[in-house]
Amino acid sequence: MAETSDQNIGRAPHIPVLLRPLLAACAPVSGVWLDGTFGAGGYTRGLLAAGAAQVIGVDRDPLALQMAAAWAGDYGDRLRLVAGNFSDMDSHAGQMLDGVVLDLGVSSMQIDLAERGFSFQKDGPLDMRMSQSGQSAADLVNQASEETLANILYHFGEERASRRIAHAIVEARVAAPITTTLRLAEIVAKCLPRPKPGQSHPATRSFQALRIAVNEEFAQLVQGLSAAERALKPGGLLAVVTFHSLEDRVVKRFFQQAAGEEPNANRYAPVKSETTARFTLVTRKAIGPDEQELEENPRARSAKLRVARRTEAPAKAVDAASLNAPDLPHSSKKGRR
Ligand SMILES: C[S@@+](CC[C@H](N)C(=O)[O-])C[C@H]1O[C@@H](n2cnc3c(N)ncnc32)[C@H](O)[C@@H]1O
Repeated sequence: MAETSDQNIGRAPHIPVLLRPLLAACAPVSGVWLDGTFGAGGYTRGLLAAGAAQVIGVDRDPLALQMAAAWAGDYGDRLRLVAGNFSDMDSHAGQMLDGVVLDLGVSSMQIDLAERGFSFQKDGPLDMRMSQSGQSAADLVNQASEETLANILYHFGEERASRRIAHAIVEARVAAPITTTLRLAEIVAKCLPRPKPGQSHPATRSFQALRIAVNEEFAQLVQGLSAAERALKPGGLLAVVTFHSLEDRVVKRFFQQAAGEEPNANRYAPVKSETTARFTLVTRKAIGPDEQELEENPRARSAKLRVARRTEAPAKAVDAASLNAPDLPHSSKKGRR
């Protein structure tokens, strides 16, 4: 859950973010739902308690599902757990759905376990793989070209000092491979001014960027929104919680396009009607945490919820470029390995 900027509150037990407003926006909850980011199961339990007949819980992290084994049996057939990516949710579901929830990003559990390598405040192996397979952050940091590293930091972390940091990484790895979180955090911190009280750790943006690259989070998001569109019944709900502006922008744009409500749409284009809109907006503006939630859970501060309802219009392939999802220039993609 949440951006790397929230890692300093890492010891709090998992509290599901924006669950109350999500359930309120989706009420009355019934039928079959898919929770594409199962995590500690907070949303799943909330949906089951609110009236879902069944929840299919999907997570790419095998540990998340292992940890649920202790309580999942209490729900019998009402809960089915699937290891996999939410980008494939329509095949995981195997049926049309009444609702889909996505709570994007990394979980408290993943941040809090130093050995998962997500935290710049705990020493651990430089890993960051949610699925525990494939290319790790250490592989990326030690093998990618300086240009590719700079592009990752800039495009996925909005890090203005991306070139300086990429250069420092490449110099440092000549001396010895960078294999731990704290060594990387130190290299990054040396490139940036010391933070003032209240400012986030200097490695925040770099860690976010690497995590996004390692887990291909924007490709997953775009494909996941599209898969949800295919999997939802007419009238079904899609609720998405994001944790940083790059993610929220993609979700907002997807909903606006699918609802035929793009602000910059060509004014000579035919007016979209109810029959062509694939979603209608349930939340016109993103919903954030209220004061009570912020008090109970400061991690929720950058969270935003958007909800839309599927119409009867046929699903359409999403044009990823039109969603402006951050991506690496072509040369960086080729030079990653
Ligand atoms: C913020 S946590 C979800 C917390 C959950 N809502 C709860 O209440 O416990 C995000 C979870 O989604 C998983 N995840 C992230 N991207 C995924 C993807 N593309 N496919 C499947 N699971 C993903 C992560 O492994 C993590 O466990």
